[in-house]
Amino acid sequence: MNYLKVFFISFLIFALFYGNIGLKSVSADDDENDFYEHHEEGLEGNENELYEEIGELIGWGTAASLCVAGALFPMRRLTKIIANNFKGHKKPYLFFARLLGKYHILIGITALILSIVHGIVMYLSEGELESEGIIGLGAVLFLFMASAAGLILHKNKKTKSIRATHITLIAITLFTAVFHIFVS
Ligand code: HEM
Ligand code: HEM
Repeated sequence: MNYLKVFFISFLIFALFYGNIGLKSVSADDDENDFYEHHEEGLEGNENELYEEIGELIGWGTAASLCVAGALFPMRRLTKIIANNFKGHKKPYLFFARLLGKYHILIGITALILSIVHGIVMYLSEGELESEGIIGLGAVLFLFMASAAGLILHKNKKTKSIRATHITLIAITLFTAVFHIFVS
C-alpha cells in the first residue's frame, strides 16, 4: 500500500509541475491584455478560467497516468537486456517492473476516470465541443475499449490475440491523445 502512495504522489508532482508550467506560460503570454479583459469579464470570466486551468491540470494528470501505465511495455522488453548487461541493477529493476505490473490495472482505471473528468470539466468551461474536444473524445473512447480488452486479458492472460488487441487499442489511444494535446 505504501508503494501505491508513492506512485500517486509521483503522479501528483508530475501533474502539478507540468500544470504549473502551463499556467505560467499562459499568464506570461498575455498578462497585459488579460488585465483589461478580466476587468470587463468580471468574476464570471475569472471563475471560468479557473475551471479551465483545473481541467487542463487534470488533462496532464491523465497524460502522466497513461505514461506510467504504458511504461509496462518497455519495462517488460528491457528485462533480459538489463539482467544480462547490468547485473548490479537487476534487483531494483525487477522490483520496479513487478510493482508496475501489480498496480497496472489501478493506474489504467485512474487514467480512464481522469480523462472523463477532464473532458467534462473542459466541455463545461468551454461551453461547446470544438475540434480538439472531439479528438479528445476519440482518445477516451479508444481508452475505454482498451480498458475493456484489458479486463478480459486479466482473466485470460495466455490468449495472445486479446493481449494484441489491448496493446493495439492503447497505441491508438496514445496516438490520438498526443494529437489532441498538440492541437490544444
Ligand atoms: C485520453 C484523453 C485525453 C487526454 C490525455 C487529454 C489531455 C489534455 C491535456 C494535457 C490538455 C492541456 C493542453 C495544454 O496545456 O495546452 C488538454 C486540453 C484540452 N482538452 Fe483534453 N485530453 C483528453 C480528452 C479530452 C476530452 C474527452 C475532451 C472534451 C470533450 C477534451 C477537451 C480539451 C480541451 C477543450 C482542452 C483545452 C484546449 C485549449 O483551450 O487549449 N480533452 N487535454
Ligand atoms: C482499466 C484499464 C486497464 C486494464 C484492466 C489493463 C489490463 C492489463 C492486463 C491484465 C495486462 C496483462 C499484464 C500481464 O501480462 O501481467 C495488460 C498489459 C498491458 N497493458 Fe494494460 N490495462 C489497462 C490500461 C492500460 C493503459 C492505460 C495502458 C497504457 C497507456 C496499458 C498498456 C498495457 C501494455 C503495453 C501491456 C502489455 C505489457 C506487455 O506484456 O508487454 N494498459 N493490461
